[in-house]
Formats: sequence, C-alpha cells, structure tokens
Amino acid sequence: MGEAMVGAIIRSNLFSPTSIRVSDINEERLVFLSRTYGVNTTKNNFEVFSESDIVIFAIKPQQMNEVLSDITSQEGYKIQHRKLAISIVAGVPLRKIEAFLYSPLDENLRKKLPVIRVMPNTPALVLAGISGMSPNPNSSAEDIQVARTILERMGSVIQFKESDLDAVTALSGTGPAYVFYLIESMIKGGINLGLDPDEAATLSITTLKGAVKLLEQRKETPEALRRKVTSPGGTTEAAFEVMQQFQVKQRIVEAIAAAAQRSKALGQ
Ligand SMILES: NC(=O)c1ccc[n+]([C@@H]2O[C@H](COP(=O)([O-])OP(=O)(O)OC[C@H]3O[C@@H](n4cnc5c(N)ncnc54)[C@H](OP(=O)(O)O)[C@@H]3O)[C@@H](O)[C@H]2O)c1
Repeated sequence: MGEAMVGAIIRSNLFSPTSIRVSDINEERLVFLSRTYGVNTTKNNFEVFSESDIVIFAIKPQQMNEVLSDITSQEGYKIQHRKLAISIVAGVPLRKIEAFLYSPLDENLRKKLPVIRVMPNTPALVLAGISGMSPNPNSSAEDIQVARTILERMGSVIQFKESDLDAVTALSGTGPAYVFYLIESMIKGGINLGLDPDEAATLSITTLKGAVKLLEQRKETPEALRRKVTSPGGTTEAAFEVMQQFQVKQRIVEAIAAAAQRSKALGQ
C-alpha cells in the first residue's frame, strides 16, 4: 500500500522521486523501490521522520508500536518545522499514535505535528481507490488539504469522524474482497453449468463492470435497478428466491459488521 502511494505520487508528478525518502526493514524492498521509482531509501525510520515534512506510516498494525517507539525514543526526536503525520495503518486509533508522538513534546510542539488517520483500499494500486480520512484536532485546513491532495492521486477521498473509520474499514477497506468473492462465486456458477473457466471469468467480470457503469450513469438505486431486471416468473426471480432463502443479503450485512468489529478490536 505504501508502494501504491509512492507510485501514484510520482506518476502524477505531485512530488519528484528525489524529494521522497522511503524506509523499510527489508533491504530487497528498498533496492526494488529505488530502482523502480528513483526514490531515496534508508533502513532508518527516524531519518525519514526527522528529514520529511510529510511522513506516511504504511506498516502492519502489529509493527506500529515498535516503529513509533523507535522514532520517539531517539535522542534527536524533536519537531522544528510543521510536520504532517499520515497513518494508513488499519485499526490503530489516533489516540495511540498521539500517545507515542506527543508524549515527549510540549503543547506548542504537539500543535506543529498534526496527525491524520487514513483507510485506503487496494484499488489504489490502479488509481481507482477510495480513502476515508480522519484528522486529529491539530490538523489545519491546509494539512487536511495536503493529505487530500496526496490521497486523490490514488482515487477518491471522503473525510469522516474517527469513530466511523471502523465502518469505513469494513466497507471500502475490506470491500474489494467482497467483490472478488462475488466474482469467484459467479465464475464457479458458470463453470458448474459447463462454461469454459476463462469465458466464465470474462462473462462475470464484464457483467460486473457493466452493472457498475449502469448504476453510475442512471440516477437509480441498486435495488431499483435490480427490481427492473426481475420479471415475474423469470430467471432473475429464480436466482433471488434462492438468495432470499439463504438470507444472502443478511449474511453479507453480518460479515461487514464482523469486519468492523475486528477493526475496532485491532485498535484496542
Ligand atoms: N492492503 C490493503 O488492502 C490495505 C488497505 C487499507 C489499509 N491497509 C493498511 O496499510 C498498511 C500496510 O499494509 P500492506 O498490505 O501494504 O503491508 P506490507 O505489504 O506488509 O507492507 C509493510 C512494509 O513495512 C515493512 N516493515 C515491517 N516492519 C518495519 C519496520 N519496523 N520499519 C520499517 N518498515 C517495516 C514490511 O517489511 P517486511 O515485509 O519485511 O515485514 C513491508 O515491506 C497496513 O497497516 C494495512 O492495514 C492495507
């Protein structure tokens, strides 16, 4: 996901590669990132933090404590100029990031270190993502605009209050997997009916793209469009009788709630 952000920033000429510094514990990743994007690389997280005006945390949730304490425990940890911290780390709340970044700083310095929590999604890899973002109270309108400008390079951005981010994680953060699952199921359905797997995949994916386009271009709800293609005694009705029997919609709603619950638990 960090690479997706670097790629989007560079391809859209928002910042030049030489103005970007990436750290990672994995040397091979650094060599790859340097060769592919021309960015500066280091294994030193503190160097990236102290030398940058905008710092993006793009590690796994379980790595966050280690990385934040590594940075803030350094002798030279201080904020001279305003620095924007952006975290895309799933489930880690602003108060936890603030607890690490702010504890060594007095109130004036804390104000110079705004923190914005973001939940992107993987279509960001093809610049078709959507990110939910939630700024902390030290974030100015300008900081929020800077974060928005970066995130818009990968797709759309919506600002939320932080308490909504678990729901955003469950819906759009995890959402691509639901769609892949639907497509997987459609392909399997086609194969079971004797279609060639590649053709079943083409039919399923193209149908999904077409249905989304129809939804975007017509000012109608998905439910209204579904009802329009469901004629009494027809094939769609036959399919939905089975879906209703197994309460598929209800199960999906429950699955999304479970994802939100997990996101909340990750943040504890
Ligand atoms: N992927 C998604 O769909 C998605 C969507 C929304 C948000 N997110 C969030 O984005 C974050 C990144 O996800 P990802 O899938 O891109 O993870 P990832 O592929 O594991 O990337 C994290 C990178 O950080 C490196 N790293 C580990 N420990 C480090 C340390 N101490 N210092 C510096 N670098 C370190 C990892 O190296 P190693 O591989 O050697 O450990 C890896 O290269 C996660 O918090 C995730 O929840 C992901």
